[in-house]
Amino acid sequence: MIVCVCKSVSERQIKACLDAGASTMEDLQIDLGVALCCGKCGPYVQEMVSGATPCCGRSCGGCCQSAQVETSTEAVVMTQELALAA
Ligand code: FES
Repeated sequence: MIVCVCKSVSERQIKACLDAGASTMEDLQIDLGVALCCGKCGPYVQEMVSGATPCCGRSCGGCCQSAQVETSTEAVVMTQELALAA
């Protein structure tokens, strides 16, 4: 499927570029020229970039924060249970 009509860039090309190490919209703009003309493909390309970004382990603002919130909630529940048991 063509994602960027202006530059005739397909979803497959974008995925290959991401698999090869591109990790930002700017990388894809430099490598493939996407989202540099009319910009209509920008949101879709950005979604592809976000979906391909691996968890950084601390500061990604996405999956890692969710994991930290869950961990914090578990710690509070465990603390409350210990307080009740004492
Ligand atoms: S569709 Fe990608 S810049 Fe126009």
